[in-house]
Amino acid sequence: MRTQVAIIGAGPAGLLLGQLLHKNGIDNVILERQTADYVLGRVRAGVIEQVTMDLLDEAGVGARMHQDGLIHDGVQICVDGVRHRLSFKELTGKSVMVYGQTEITKDLMDGRVAAVAPTVYSAQDVTLHDFFGDNPRVSYRAEGRGHEIACDFIAGCDGFHGISRKSVPPGLISAYERVYPLGWLGLLSDTPPVSEELIYVRHATGFALCSMRSPTRSRYYIQCSLAEDVEAWPDERFWEELKPRLDDEARDRLVTGPSIEKSIAPLRSFVAEPLRFGRLFLAGDAAHIVPPTGAKGLNLAASDVRYLSRALIEHYQEKSADGLEHYSARALARVWKAERFSWWMTMTLHRISDNPFDQKLQLAELDYLFRSPAAATAFAENYVGLPY
Ligand code: FAD
Ligand code: PHB
Repeated sequence: MRTQVAIIGAGPAGLLLGQLLHKNGIDNVILERQTADYVLGRVRAGVIEQVTMDLLDEAGVGARMHQDGLIHDGVQICVDGVRHRLSFKELTGKSVMVYGQTEITKDLMDGRVAAVAPTVYSAQDVTLHDFFGDNPRVSYRAEGRGHEIACDFIAGCDGFHGISRKSVPPGLISAYERVYPLGWLGLLSDTPPVSEELIYVRHATGFALCSMRSPTRSRYYIQCSLAEDVEAWPDERFWEELKPRLDDEARDRLVTGPSIEKSIAPLRSFVAEPLRFGRLFLAGDAAHIVPPTGAKGLNLAASDVRYLSRALIEHYQEKSADGLEHYSARALARVWKAERFSWWMTMTLHRISDNPFDQKLQLAELDYLFRSPAAATAFAENYVGLPY
């Protein structure tokens, strides 16, 4: 088989790239290790930036998002039982949208089926070959047989545990990493959200987040230890741990109910540099991870894809190498700013250290955020997404 761009991974990065390339007449094949149902079953991101919405529209898959997504003009931060609101709309003129990653993935998968573009699910042993030469190839096994795809470029969109980044000779790639000693225990339930806006909670006993997927579906998170086993968290225990972290009004309004999904996600900051290796380009979680506190992971995957899709379109339509040459530097400039913001939110809202000095600093950061219009504007600019 031959294609122009072989895409590894059918997460948001790979599917969105495939759709944008297809719209511009560029052939591509997606190879995904899991089944489509497995990919759709992973509950992850919930908040998308305006620029990500625009990109989904450009890819022609934004209709359901505009119909079902919830526009949020602000966010709330609760500090030791007292709630504060920051208005994105007043501070930046922009908003974010609450629309689940599973829904975006479904819209992109439906778009791909409508475009009759090839996706191989359950592709095993995906291996990248010769990407430093002019004729890269990707081999894999499916339905018990070996296959090979010849291509012009390979897009490594296969997430943090994927094969693309690991295929680069170690001496050519630098990794920058910070692992936090905690995770998020998340619970999804068919109960109305406790508030119309997200509430990020800083509490002496630990972080919590009240989020949502719709007016009838809530998503809650609490900070937990990395050693925690989700089996040790019956729903009742989760609700009892969440309640004391909330303010009185939220506690009164909280509707508990059976979970539909419960999982633990570790918190990590990670960046691999550069993002280009000959004819291999890394995008999304394959190249960088942020802790979920700033809601930036999916949005960064989308911004990488924007730079990469434009670079590939320029290459094919204008015979220009400029976009491909600058892809890594352009994408990384945005990535590092989101790394900074996600790290800052994580360090400011979680119980990470038992040193009272660190806790006092957190409270000073938050007090400054609520009192200074300059600090609030800087926060809002980052949360709604920095310009490309
Ligand atoms: P992935 O979604 O990881 O997709 C990679 C795909 O590649 C997967 O389908 C995988 O199966 C496949 N793959 C892996 N290895 C191989 C292989 N060898 N061969 C073939 N295929 C392979 N982000 C936000 O922007 N906002 C949020 O609110 C937010 N909340 C989050 C909450 C939680 C609890 C978590 C865990 C994450 C959150 N994120 C959020 C982050 C976001 O989910 C990720 O950044 C996003 O999924 C990255 O997309 P991706 O396509 O790069 O990678
Ligand atoms: C979510 O709804 O899953 C969510 C929202 C905001 C975050 C992280 C996750 O910062």
